[in-house]
Amino acid sequence: MHMAKVVIIYDSATHNTELMSGAIADGVRAEGMEVMVSHVHEAKLEMINDIDGLVLGSGTYHHEIMPALEVFIEKMKGLELKDKVGAAFCSYGWSPEVVDLITNRLKGYGMKTVDGLLIKEKPDEAGLERCRQFGRKVATLVKGNVR
Ligand SMILES: Cc1cc2nc3c(=O)[nH]c(=O)nc-3n(C[C@H](O)[C@H](O)[C@H](O)COP(=O)(O)O)c2cc1C
Repeated sequence: MHMAKVVIIYDSATHNTELMSGAIADGVRAEGMEVMVSHVHEAKLEMINDIDGLVLGSGTYHHEIMPALEVFIEKMKGLELKDKVGAAFCSYGWSPEVVDLITNRLKGYGMKTVDGLLIKEKPDEAGLERCRQFGRKVATLVKGNVR
């Protein structure tokens, strides 16, 4: 039997998006699914060769996806991502666009995407709970998508 796997890769300069990634992972695990979390600096393309769901996160700097994550997304071009579940999350200060920028890149690879998750600055306990719920939602979608 295939064991469904989700990978979370993020970039974060002041740890806000990083805090989100940990809580999202908790939510995925709460659905009984295997999950791997990696800062983009440690991420390898091989990590996402054989996944069922990919969740990408970035802080917002100058209205853009953070540069190292941008490079990673570009390198994903050759991978078999079509029809897999993809989702984005983002910490921001005043402008919400990066979560959609990431989601659109995943759509461009043919992934089945969901509305991304946005948290303003550092997630508080309510924000962390939203992250956990988001992780559960992604895991539930992955379950429904894997046959
Ligand atoms: C130099 C700089 C540029 C920023 N640019 C934006 C921006 O364009 N839009 C926005 O919403 N927030 C912006 N922010 C706020 C950060 O996105 C916010 O603090 C976020 O929580 C950082 O996430 P991180 O801790 O994961 O790096 C900026 C912050 C800094 C320090």
